[in-house]
Amino acid sequence: MDFLELFNKPNLIAAHRGDRSGKPENTLSALVSSVGRCDFVEIDVQLTKDLVPVIIHDETLARTSNVSTIKAFEDRAPWRVSKFALQELEQLDFGSWFDSRYAPLLTLEKALTFVKEAQLFLNIEIKDISHVFADGVVVEKIITLIQRTQIEHLVLLSSFYHNYLPLCKTYAPTIPTAALQAGRHPNDLIPYLRTLKVDAYHPEDKITTREIVERVRDAGFFVNVYTVNDPVRQQELFSWGVNGVFTDCLRERIRS
Ligand code: G3P
Repeated sequence: MDFLELFNKPNLIAAHRGDRSGKPENTLSALVSSVGRCDFVEIDVQLTKDLVPVIIHDETLARTSNVSTIKAFEDRAPWRVSKFALQELEQLDFGSWFDSRYAPLLTLEKALTFVKEAQLFLNIEIKDISHVFADGVVVEKIITLIQRTQIEHLVLLSSFYHNYLPLCKTYAPTIPTAALQAGRHPNDLIPYLRTLKVDAYHPEDKITTREIVERVRDAGFFVNVYTVNDPVRQQELFSWGVNGVFTDCLRERIRS
């Protein structure tokens, strides 16, 4: 089964940044903990200063690492990920902000290796780093790793920065893509999604209406909504034809 075939199943649950209620987000332990409790996992990728794809959500390291406590890095505030080399990020602890346990940096390479072993479906959100790195460099670095790991069929790529999406299709036509959207829907939404060559639309919950879902689904796109932790709201969205919801709250799931 590939990612697009997964959308034949109803009521998909996506683990937002892994099991981020139980483990530090975007770490290997968050991926491990989400196995068997979701239909696919979502993680965030950006590049280090030396162009290595790493799994971190924020533009800076302060919230999800111990960077602010490391003497060697005290003059590097606000600790932008893009200003740190891989070897520097490997010195940080990405677990102690969450609980007492240490968690190492998760690189995209390590995440993909785990996903291949566990045969997990993975949504990789490409953070908007267009102000730092050329779009082609960002997309090429990420897609090269996916292709090298030979898991194109397990992956869906998404971004709020929509210029990456047609580029992804140029580099890897078989990997599905999705446009993330917050705030308001783009004008002429359906023609716009066609221009981007995406397979899916990922709106935030608060702008998602039944009318939008029906219009987008009728036009042949899949719809996954973020971030929906309320089970009643999840059911309402599913009843409108939404394929999946991103959630921070995972439950045991038995799927055939
Ligand atoms: O990709 C779905 C969701 O993760 C988007 O929001 O802020 O968590 O990247 P954010």
